[in-house]
Amino acid sequence: MQNIFDNDVFFDGYKSLRERDDNMNDLLEQPAMKKLLPDLVGKSVLDLGCGYGHNCVDFVKRGATKVVGIDISKKMLEVAKEESSDAKIEYKNMSMTDIESIGETFDLLYSSLAFHYIDDFKTFAKAMANVTTKGGTLLFSQEHPIITATVDGNGHFNRDENGNRISYTFSDYNRAGKRTSRWFVDDVVKYHRPFGHIITALADAGFMIEEVVEPVPENWAVEKLPTIVKEYIKPNFLIVKAKKI
Ligand SMILES: C[S@@+](CC[C@H](N)C(=O)[O-])C[C@H]1O[C@@H](n2cnc3c(N)ncnc32)[C@H](O)[C@@H]1O
Repeated sequence: MQNIFDNDVFFDGYKSLRERDDNMNDLLEQPAMKKLLPDLVGKSVLDLGCGYGHNCVDFVKRGATKVVGIDISKKMLEVAKEESSDAKIEYKNMSMTDIESIGETFDLLYSSLAFHYIDDFKTFAKAMANVTTKGGTLLFSQEHPIITATVDGNGHFNRDENGNRISYTFSDYNRAGKRTSRWFVDDVVKYHRPFGHIITALADAGFMIEEVVEPVPENWAVEKLPTIVKEYIKPNFLIVKAKKI
């Protein structure tokens, strides 16, 4: 399994991106995720691919009594331990594909923009179901399948004579599998699955889908970054909220 966030060039590039105040996480993905969070008072949370741990701290502020943040990247967890420590948070350096080895169940399984790094989502969905308390919640975001689809990485906007984006071209949507592209460095590996594969894997594992969101920007976000209206042409993110039955 690739651990690209421990690559120094990738790590620095990603960190600079997240430090910009017009990044897509803060303008679009995080506001949409926050709206879908269940009540966390007295609850336990497992954050899959927790990165810098900022969400783990937020869960504690919302009343969670126990938060476990796991990440495959040592460098991301070093930042988490420095910036996002709390007595109620435990960070573990491990792959989320090994979650059953934690040997506990959690009221909320949360993941922000990490599931497109997982190869076998069917098996992973079953592992997630095994560590979610009955009646508990799974809430995750990932790159939208329209983004991950195109095999040669050449998905692109088409523009009118004035340079305005008017449509988006992608291909290979129904060819699930590995995708390799350049993002700060060459050969970054992600996995594409059509929407139907994602939802069916979750249902087979014992999750009931509660909400599916492909977020569009609120007015304040458009004021900050006018080009973000492109989300009305093609969504960047897919968000799923499901209940363990
Ligand atoms: C785009 S970052 C998002 C970080 C954090 N969730 C956030 O939203 O700020 C994706 C994270 O997933 C982690 N990751 C990727 N594959 C993983 C795996 N198999 N197990 C655990 N973490 C993984 C990466 O190391 C990285 O920290």
